[in-house]
Amino acid sequence: MDNPDPTDFGILDGISEVIATTKSDSGIPNAAPIGIIRNHDRLCVQLFPGSHTRQNAARTGQIVANIIHDPVMYVECTFGDPGPEAFEYPGGMDYPVLKRTSAWILFECIQSKGNRFELTPVRGMIRDKPMLCINRGKNAVIEALVHATRYRLNGDAQYLDLIRHYDKIVQRCGGSSEKEAIARLKEIMETQ
Ligand SMILES: Cc1cc2nc3c(=O)[nH]c(=O)nc-3n(C[C@H](O)[C@H](O)[C@H](O)COP(=O)(O)O)c2cc1C
Repeated sequence: MDNPDPTDFGILDGISEVIATTKSDSGIPNAAPIGIIRNHDRLCVQLFPGSHTRQNAARTGQIVANIIHDPVMYVECTFGDPGPEAFEYPGGMDYPVLKRTSAWILFECIQSKGNRFELTPVRGMIRDKPMLCINRGKNAVIEALVHATRYRLNGDAQYLDLIRHYDKIVQRCGGSSEKEAIARLKEIMETQ
């Protein structure tokens, strides 16, 4: 659909976590978790320097928000990228989308001030609308991941305590995919 309404995709006021897909000048697809900030009808992202996502979004002027609930995918895309087989180019579109996403929106993005990129929805597709209850384990995986990215930046041990705290919630409230995701996160952190 053209000119999609982000509300139909569950992107409401506040910050919605998605996996952003972008491509490099030479067409290499990239995926990373990014928060879409919505304030009424205004949508933007803060892209911090140093990421492929920021570099690609600045160069191509486009970014795709993949609305996806797979916690393992969030871990894999934070610390690396899935292989090319994880992406597709729907309807001849020249921009990558995750094959397993429930929905996606292609945004035009323009850097406005500092790290801020303003987003305008261009095209989108809803593939499935999973009925999801709030699961504290799934949310805890995302919290642990955010702390892991901070730990990677400054090595502050307080983040390890926070990750242990969220790990306990995952063990109590998560399902098999949340437990797999946190196990993968711990494995990545041990080998770094
Ligand atoms: C839940 C979550 C939300 C994130 N949101 C952002 C964000 O809004 N902006 C940003 O620059 N990085 C964000 N990050 C960090 C990036 O995903 C991370 O730096 C990633 O390694 C960038 O990968 P890339 O170099 O492939 O783009 C977030 C990480 C997580 C786990």
